[in-house]
Amino acid sequence: MAMLEARTQTFIPLIEATMAARLGAIANQHLQDAMRYSLFAGGKRLRPLLLLVTVDSFGGDVEQALPAAAALEYLHTYSLIHDDLPAMDNDDLRRGKPTNHRQFGDALAILAGDALQSEAFAMLAQTEAPAATVVALTQRFAQAVGANGMVAGQVMDMDGEHHHLDIAHLRLLQALKTGALIECAVMMGADLVAADAYDAVALRKFAQAFGLAFQIQDDLNDVTKSTAELGKTANKDVAADKATFPAIMGMADAQKALATQLMMARDALSHLSVAAPQLRAFLTYFD
Ligand code: IPE
Ligand code: IPE
Ligand code: MG
Ligand code: MG
Ligand code: MG
Repeated sequence: MAMLEARTQTFIPLIEATMAARLGAIANQHLQDAMRYSLFAGGKRLRPLLLLVTVDSFGGDVEQALPAAAALEYLHTYSLIHDDLPAMDNDDLRRGKPTNHRQFGDALAILAGDALQSEAFAMLAQTEAPAATVVALTQRFAQAVGANGMVAGQVMDMDGEHHHLDIAHLRLLQALKTGALIECAVMMGADLVAADAYDAVALRKFAQAFGLAFQIQDDLNDVTKSTAELGKTANKDVAADKATFPAIMGMADAQKALATQLMMARDALSHLSVAAPQLRAFLTYFD
């Protein structure tokens, strides 16, 4: 990603080495192949980077945060494999390659997603930290991705097809479907560095604004960018009549809403007790 500072770039090989090490222990080769295919298809590693940069910004131990970082990317990858299934968004292309089910069939794609989710929790549990911290991280992760988090957002997304949601429901949909995992990434960093209450509030505000901006941008991309640029099929949301920001409020207002969230994210960072230029650099993703 062009947005990353030089120091942040050095985290990507660390994240990927942790992801790869865990894969090697999966005995069933067919399953391992399907998991590896999507894990190493060229994702931006946004969520693990947010975690590691948060930790680093507070002078924390990046090495200690690697299992949690890899867990975030495993979980995210499972969510995309299932999101692309015929029963959900029915997509053929992801990260410029055939989707997991197009490559391995629906059954293995579902099972690879299942395995990525449980492996994510197994990695997180290996975090070398006091037991109370590991429990707190696990609870935060489960809450973010489960029945009152990401999965609920995906249900709202499916139920929102062909329905004109109001803005409040659209925001809730986003906060759960995309926002929860992004917020979790930043707040796991806060847990690991034992951030004080003021920093924790500012970090949460930053993550929420960033997460909302990220989904608005994703929705805008569907309309404005080509399949080649996206690495996923363009105009899919329009074809499926999804409840997206441009669909509900129009392009101009969606762009304004994006700008507002970026302002809020920048403002939240200014309230941190540390300068955090690496966190601010994430905002250039939207330039
Ligand atoms: C795509 O996430 C799905 C959304 C939540 C919008 P990313 O844009 O982070 O996907 P990759 O991992 O870089 O492919
Ligand atoms: C995906 O949202 C969100 C999750 C996988 C939880 P989208 O359906 O908007 O993501 P893309 O556009 O297919 O990447
Ligand atoms: Mg979807
Ligand atoms: Mg999708
Ligand atoms: Mg999308």
